[in-house]
Amino acid sequence: MSILIENIKKLVQVEDQPRKFVAGKAMSKLPVMEDAWIMIEKDRIASFGKMDDQLRPAIAKKVIDATGKMVFPAFCDSHTHLVYPASREIEYVDKIKGLSYEEIAKRGGGILNSARKMQEISESELFDSAMKHLDEMMYLGTGAVEIKSGYGLNTESEMKMLRVIRRLKESHPITIKSTFLGAHAVPTEYKGKQSDYVDLVINEMIPRVASEELADYVDVFCDRGFFTVEDTDRILNAAMKYGLRPKIHANELDYSGGIQVGVKYNALSVDHLEYTGDAEIKVLLNTETMPTVLPGAAFFLGMVYAPVRKMIDAGLPVALASDFNPGSSPSGNMQLILSMASILYKMIPEEAINATTLNSAYAMGVEEEQGTIAVGKKANLFISKEIPSIEFMPYAYGSNKVETIIINGIIK
Ligand code: NIG
Ligand code: FE
Repeated sequence: MSILIENIKKLVQVEDQPRKFVAGKAMSKLPVMEDAWIMIEKDRIASFGKMDDQLRPAIAKKVIDATGKMVFPAFCDSHTHLVYPASREIEYVDKIKGLSYEEIAKRGGGILNSARKMQEISESELFDSAMKHLDEMMYLGTGAVEIKSGYGLNTESEMKMLRVIRRLKESHPITIKSTFLGAHAVPTEYKGKQSDYVDLVINEMIPRVASEELADYVDVFCDRGFFTVEDTDRILNAAMKYGLRPKIHANELDYSGGIQVGVKYNALSVDHLEYTGDAEIKVLLNTETMPTVLPGAAFFLGMVYAPVRKMIDAGLPVALASDFNPGSSPSGNMQLILSMASILYKMIPEEAINATTLNSAYAMGVEEEQGTIAVGKKANLFISKEIPSIEFMPYAYGSNKVETIIINGIIK
């Protein structure tokens, strides 16, 4: 089917020459076409231009009048844990009462709490709840999502989670990438024997995940109280032999060395980054690793905020993702992430939009297909409600500004 959207007040993030990502000062530039149209053929962006353009197509199966509205590429959410067995609002209350994320984890709460429940839940229950999360995110403007395992923490349960993610890929219109996160926490039965668990991840889990082609990427929670740089090095080395590129949790709780070991293995992204200093910035510059900040987790846990201004001013690219998970960020709303980016990290709206579209597309390996409005890319985009300006998107932080979402060229 063909769809022609006309009288678009602003067509945002248009691109003629494909870029992999934008870094430093270039993050503050957001290419916009005013008074525009866009033509969608089947699942692709076929053409776009200005309303007074002679080449404007006259016919289409469906014509949408977008007077007063804007069109944006759908958000790419490059870091989530949205396959989980149950919400964890009781821990949230513990946090309100003053316990830290690490204290909750030490008492067997946190990731281990989810891992216990993961053993009992069926694949179909997991699948049904994840489908609901994906639907909600899609209607809030998201067109691509990365999903991690990591609540299984034994071979069978990790495989179960990854099989659910595979079914989601086959069933949901949103583009999905899957990441194997066996090293998310040390399971209770391996307490005091952390390196034995790392051996299990390396010798049993990774070979099975790879042989059943269940993951696109590999992740490790490389941080204080979780996995060490040495553990991470061993796991990434093993994963590399199976062609699994890393996307790792790094420097959320301390200057953990996670960024350095991620860059050493040419990670596609290093994520969280609350503890990023001059040494970490230097290591990241001129690499293919996307620094990814997760405002939802920092906000929800009341952490220090990653030094995003300093990172961008030093010339780095930055991507933003929701980190949707039951423990540290129970929201997959990328519109809210846009607002947090400007309010908490002082990113200007243009930077925040680049970070949630093109740069986050790169951080999950879909930048050739999504993240901008470009001819030939997948038609994953949304039409906003009538809004006065682009700046209104992060400004109106509690409102849903998305009116119509189009995924794979189909109106949802
Ligand atoms: O990205 N930091 C580690 N992992 C998750 C939290 C997972 C959980 O608490 O369930 C995160 O924030
Ligand atoms: Fe995470």
